[in-house]
Amino acid sequence: MLYDKLKNNKRLPFHMPGHKRNIKLLGNKFPYDIDITEIDGFDNLHSPDSIIKEIEDKAKEKYECDNSFILVNGSTVGILAGILATVKQGNTVLIARNCHKSVYNGIELAGAKAEYILPELDEYGILKAVAPDELDEKIRLFNPKLVVITSPTYEGVNSDIEKLCEITHKYNIPLMLDAAHGAHYVGYAKYADITVMSLHKTMPALTQCALAHVNGHLVNPEEYRIKLSMLETSSPSYILMSSVEECLELNLDYWTFINKRDKLLKECKKLRHLELIDYDISKLVVFCGYSNINGVKLAEKLRNEYNIEVEMAAKNYVVLILTACDDFKNYKLLRKALFQIDDNLKSEEYISDKLPQLPQKSTKKIENKKLLNFDAASGNVCAEYIWAYPPGIPIIVPGEIISKEIISYINDSLKSGVNIQSTYSELPRKICCQS
Ligand SMILES: Cc1ncc(COP(=O)(O)O)c(C=O)c1O
Repeated sequence: MLYDKLKNNKRLPFHMPGHKRNIKLLGNKFPYDIDITEIDGFDNLHSPDSIIKEIEDKAKEKYECDNSFILVNGSTVGILAGILATVKQGNTVLIARNCHKSVYNGIELAGAKAEYILPELDEYGILKAVAPDELDEKIRLFNPKLVVITSPTYEGVNSDIEKLCEITHKYNIPLMLDAAHGAHYVGYAKYADITVMSLHKTMPALTQCALAHVNGHLVNPEEYRIKLSMLETSSPSYILMSSVEECLELNLDYWTFINKRDKLLKECKKLRHLELIDYDISKLVVFCGYSNINGVKLAEKLRNEYNIEVEMAAKNYVVLILTACDDFKNYKLLRKALFQIDDNLKSEEYISDKLPQLPQKSTKKIENKKLLNFDAASGNVCAEYIWAYPPGIPIIVPGEIISKEIISYINDSLKSGVNIQSTYSELPRKICCQS
């Protein structure tokens, strides 16, 4: 294992990093003792042929795919590389509108253009899976060079990956699956041409650890590695890479986890106002739309009164991440908190969230930009991204026309306390537009 090799490395460090593994001097607050660079015998992430290759081979075997790549800059870098390796300037990329902003950034970097699939909302205001028929129809309409979808989504909604891949392959188009939230599914990476998954989200790897998997003949794995090398640091952290290996080796007790989780879900069926929605084992969505509390206030209550920090707060729900590494005592505390909060809630009519229509696109290229008052910007061409964070999914993107509906949707979200961010950080006062 890489970790043992790092621990046993007693060579005198006349090389980077500058801390020289001197824990006598620096203390052991940080893992200086195993923090090295690419010295002889420790392989090279950008052209691996020994210990790093062995880790990538382990990943390939575990996730049942043709090629696996360690990523030390999160799924973000795997997504960017996937787009740059498959599309050229002017090409169209068909994406589910609820893709992460890294997908939009990748398309911009490639000089390509995006067309969208907008999944429907379910009864809770959560975006549903990508419908196979819609994918087929949009491929015929837009003739894309790449399709990108997110599954599972932030809320844990899974699309029928096998079916969606069958459709894109019928047209010889690669599908990139953003499974940043799906690393706990080992069988998930064998269908798509590129699958990117964050080991740090639903698996116990250190933050920034992720994997990319490349299958089949529609994507050249060498081209993918080249693009990764362009985007990723030339000094990848061995601590992170070792954490990837550890994560691949671990045998987690899913049986106990699923039982404890099921018990929590079953007990919470007795809640009167709050409702637990169960889309994916790694997620717990607590829906509060039928009560007089909103998602942001519910998250605040859990934090301030019960010391429970959730992953994300939306208008009508909060999302919690559950994993096989949980301390199950915390499930009892969570249950107690939910019941106490529930006891003090009142019923309220649920007004289901309506997504604004996909904004119209301007045909003109953005050359110059200006900041306008947000509330008066309707009819102008947006020159920045606006997104709720988390989950980092854009509401409007550069080149789209700002409508009254979009302005009121964003104002509404801000009023509910949802964390809305924009490229130029001037919202809610100003928005950057084409001048
Ligand atoms: C759906 C989705 N894709 C990609 C990413 C980026 O992942 P990472 O933080 O590992 O770079 C995120 C991060 O939240 C995400 O939610």
